[in-house]
Amino acid sequence: MINDKSVDERQDESVNGKWKKVKTDDDTFTLKSLEYNECYHSNEGALRETFYKHVGVAVDLMKNIEDEEIRILDICFGLGYNTFLSILNRPENKKLKIFSPELDLELIKSLKNFKYPKEFDKIKNIIDKISENLYYKDDFIEIEVANEDAREYIKKLENIHIVYQDAFSPKVNRELWTIEYFRDIKNILNNNGIITTYSVATPVRCALYSLGFKLFTHKCDIIRKGTLASLKEIDYPKVDFEEKLKRVKCRVYEDIAP
Ligand SMILES: C[S@@+](CC[C@H](N)C(=O)[O-])C[C@H]1O[C@@H](n2cnc3c(N)ncnc32)[C@H](O)[C@@H]1O
Repeated sequence: MINDKSVDERQDESVNGKWKKVKTDDDTFTLKSLEYNECYHSNEGALRETFYKHVGVAVDLMKNIEDEEIRILDICFGLGYNTFLSILNRPENKKLKIFSPELDLELIKSLKNFKYPKEFDKIKNIIDKISENLYYKDDFIEIEVANEDAREYIKKLENIHIVYQDAFSPKVNRELWTIEYFRDIKNILNNNGIITTYSVATPVRCALYSLGFKLFTHKCDIIRKGTLASLKEIDYPKVDFEEKLKRVKCRVYEDIAP
């Protein structure tokens, strides 16, 4: 998700008066939220963005993790692309446990009728279960969608390997980009912990850097690069943030009153 999402010419019909359906550059659909005035995905492609910014990186890094169960935090569920594509790309030798907060219950309930990419047809049963019950479990996958504020929900978690940091932009969804929020995220990560995000905003990188994360970026040139924050070295292009801090003041997004 990138905050370039006021793509007026792509907007299709209105959905429940709350969203507009938007076709993105890879021919997959996303929504534009009329409340936040932003799209759930970048115009580069809903499926393409999900894979290259988040899921592809996660699957690649899972190869180096010995644990049989990989625990993923998906911030926030939205249309569920990150969660659904993760289960479609699950390495055979891994179990996935996915935790995802989402404030908008009406959105989750509507997902069984959303026009997902055809690749998602084979998990239609899972999409329907999540949409109806906010929960799914089989021998290899467990998904829990929590209709709660992410800031409170994350405090109950532990031992997380991967966080997909995919909130709306800091301009409209500030509470999920503050240094206080990222401190809580750091507290629930295990030693392999990484955060994937589309954001390259200096206050976001400053917060992550100040908390002791090493900063990297994506390898692929197919879409705009974002930020990967890791507690240990990973085989991705490093962001030389110390060099940047010689030129800019380190400022972060701070908590705002409720
Ligand atoms: C950019 S969308 C997520 C896109 C999603 N990853 C996907 O693949 O469709 C951001 C979502 O965060 C939810 N949200 C915003 N603030 C929240 C909060 N404080 N707690 C939980 N959910 C929140 C919104 O309702 C919205 O569905």
